[in-house]
Amino acid sequence: MLLLLSSFSIALLFYLSIQSIIQVNELSSQLHASSAPSVRKSDCRLEAINIVCNRWTWAPVFIRVYLIGIFETIYIALCKRGLLKHSLSQQLNEQQVDTLVQSYESTTPQTAVITGGDSGIGLEICKGLLEAGFHVIIGTRSMESGQRAADSLTKQTGSDKVSCVELDLTLFKSVKKFAAEIKKKVPQNQLQLLINNAGVMNIPCELTKDGYETQCQTNFLSPVLLTQLLLPWLDTKSGRVLFASSSTLYAIHNLDTTFSTCSYGWDGLEHYAYSKACIAHMVARLAKSTRVKIYAYHPGTVRTKLFAHTTVFNIPFVSKMFDFIMLTPKEGSLTPLQLCLRKDVDDSGTYWANGRMQTVPDVVVNGKKNDIDALWNDTLSKCKI
Ligand SMILES: NC(=O)c1ccc[n+]([C@@H]2O[C@H](COP(=O)([O-])OP(=O)(O)OC[C@H]3O[C@@H](n4cnc5c(N)ncnc54)[C@H](OP(=O)(O)O)[C@@H]3O)[C@@H](O)[C@H]2O)c1
Ligand SMILES: *[C@@H]1O[C@H](CO)[C@@H](O)[C@H](O)[C@H]1NC(C)=O
Repeated sequence: MLLLLSSFSIALLFYLSIQSIIQVNELSSQLHASSAPSVRKSDCRLEAINIVCNRWTWAPVFIRVYLIGIFETIYIALCKRGLLKHSLSQQLNEQQVDTLVQSYESTTPQTAVITGGDSGIGLEICKGLLEAGFHVIIGTRSMESGQRAADSLTKQTGSDKVSCVELDLTLFKSVKKFAAEIKKKVPQNQLQLLINNAGVMNIPCELTKDGYETQCQTNFLSPVLLTQLLLPWLDTKSGRVLFASSSTLYAIHNLDTTFSTCSYGWDGLEHYAYSKACIAHMVARLAKSTRVKIYAYHPGTVRTKLFAHTTVFNIPFVSKMFDFIMLTPKEGSLTPLQLCLRKDVDDSGTYWANGRMQTVPDVVVNGKKNDIDALWNDTLSKCKI
């Protein structure tokens, strides 16, 4: 009986794997055919894998989150770490950031606001923007760490056009105070960039004072509130708003709006993926309401303290391997910096990864397919807008 059952399982697994490989191949050829000539087949293949993971509705969300992460790290190891013949390297990727930043030209003063710009990918985005000549205002939850970051940025870039303002995204009151502070510092219509970079992942479950699960409020609700408050301040001609999303959004096919008030035991990754999927869907809806360009992005799988609460990344030997495979924060800043600085970026309301626009899969909102308006209404009422 046991033998029969295990051979059946193996056969099923084999069948599903073959089926998925066929699907990934077909999809990546389609994506590649409809992309610009410079787009690499391997980038399309990664996008296709994510889309196929999204179709595995029978697998629990956290399993799909892990699979998406595993496939991406394999992709980085093969295609961005010099292991394959035409593979890029860390040095080449980081050079792309330098080239992008150095080729940026502007005749008028430019100002950017970035949340969580004092560590990880955010710090590298600040560095790129300062080198490109921007004034940068960092929203930080610790003024001490913010000031330390500002000092080190000035030392590294030679630009002192950086300052910080206190911001705690787990508190709507703090978001409102932050927006008011920015409006005092920057004249109306003269804010060119708002980068909603700050985020947390898989932290122990806690509800905020406003009554929401912390990842959801930090990664999704508060960034929407901040954006709604600052949109009237953004330059209507060249203004852009970015949201840090994540490829883990592909693990989600069901968005139940009550989820943001639910607690969890050990499985914080589902709430993380949920918050990142919500933000990616909100971007498309938000873009319809404004002339300012709105984008969501996935920076890549980047070695930062974001993973501090996810055990596998901290096992000593495994940790060393991830140091090599995962992208550096500077490599992770490439896609967001392209969205900030490239003149040829259009298509407001889209999601970007690996330097190109990518598909956001359909979702079911409260039982109704693609009812993004319901998500939008619910979000605005939660933020009390
Ligand atoms: N790393 C990746 O592989 C990856 C992949 C996909 C998406 N992302 C997204 O990219 C963004 C940046 O992540 P990272 O990897 O650079 O992580 P990180 O180094 O941990 O940076 C996150 C930043 O957000 C700030 N932050 C967290 N909670 C906050 C709050 N309540 N109020 C204000 N600021 C808060 C942190 O401040 P403290 O220093 O005070 O904690 C920190 O400055 C995140 O949104 C993340 O979800 C990252
Ligand atoms: C969202 O709110 C608007 C305005 O209040 C309303 O007209 C619309 O029917 C709502 N949509 C959904 C799906 O709840």
